[in-house]
Amino acid sequence: MFDVKPLTGAIGAEITGVDLNLPISDRVAKALRVALWRHLIIVFRDQFLDISAQKRLTEVFGEVMRLPYVEPTNDDPDVIAVLKEASEHNVGVFGGEWHSDFSFLERPPSGSVLNAVEVPDYGGDTLWANQASAYEALPADLRKIVEGRDAIHVGKPYGVKYAPPKESRAASSIRMTRGDPDADREIHHPAVIEHPHSGRKALFLNPIYTTRFDGMSDAESAPLLEAIYKHCIRPEFCCRLRWSPGAVAVWDNRMTLHYAVNDYDGVRRLLYRTTFVDVRH
Ligand code: SIN
Repeated sequence: MFDVKPLTGAIGAEITGVDLNLPISDRVAKALRVALWRHLIIVFRDQFLDISAQKRLTEVFGEVMRLPYVEPTNDDPDVIAVLKEASEHNVGVFGGEWHSDFSFLERPPSGSVLNAVEVPDYGGDTLWANQASAYEALPADLRKIVEGRDAIHVGKPYGVKYAPPKESRAASSIRMTRGDPDADREIHHPAVIEHPHSGRKALFLNPIYTTRFDGMSDAESAPLLEAIYKHCIRPEFCCRLRWSPGAVAVWDNRMTLHYAVNDYDGVRRLLYRTTFVDVRH
């Protein structure tokens, strides 16, 4: 039906032999979901999708979800333009730290689609880390901490308490709402989650939004979280995607962390992003 070539021993696969501009049959859609649940990030090259084809692809994996706090494109409220202009030097980028998207929501996204429009010849890669592999290899002392325990997630960058100061050098091409007291609300999620389809267990903790473990203070949690994060992003659990125009990546947001590498000052980078929440297939 299509070919699936793993990118590394732990995570990621490139899929060839499918044209996502054409209608996607139920049979292909099911096989794509299975490929995603297995490899956690799947990549297609040379697709050059318009927004309606991107949304059709997104719907293969779940319902399209609108994101709070990040301004969508003028043309479509379901789409975010992940953009850094060539003129933006020495600024932070969207997703420029290891994270799982919007983990502070009661129902975090199941996954996202990134559709590359304009990318540097080199630089601007994205990394993903498999949190199921990280959980399976977690040393016993840290496993004891996370097993059966909730962690607290807060929408730090968007709230009042932690939001970066206005003068901080964040890329201005992507606009975010800051200072919403509701984003400071503490949301509990299990530190170890189970994938609803594969049943695989994974760590669900990330440095942007997780503040502490339930039953512990921030200070007590900090060294434990730091040790866990160091483990979570070991190269053995990661893949690194070099973008090309027309490339499309779909990833599972529950079982992975991702990181946008900010090493391309002076070059424009534009990808369209859509996000989805799972429905039972
Ligand atoms: C994101 O976190 O969604 C952005 C990823 C990227 O720009 O590579």
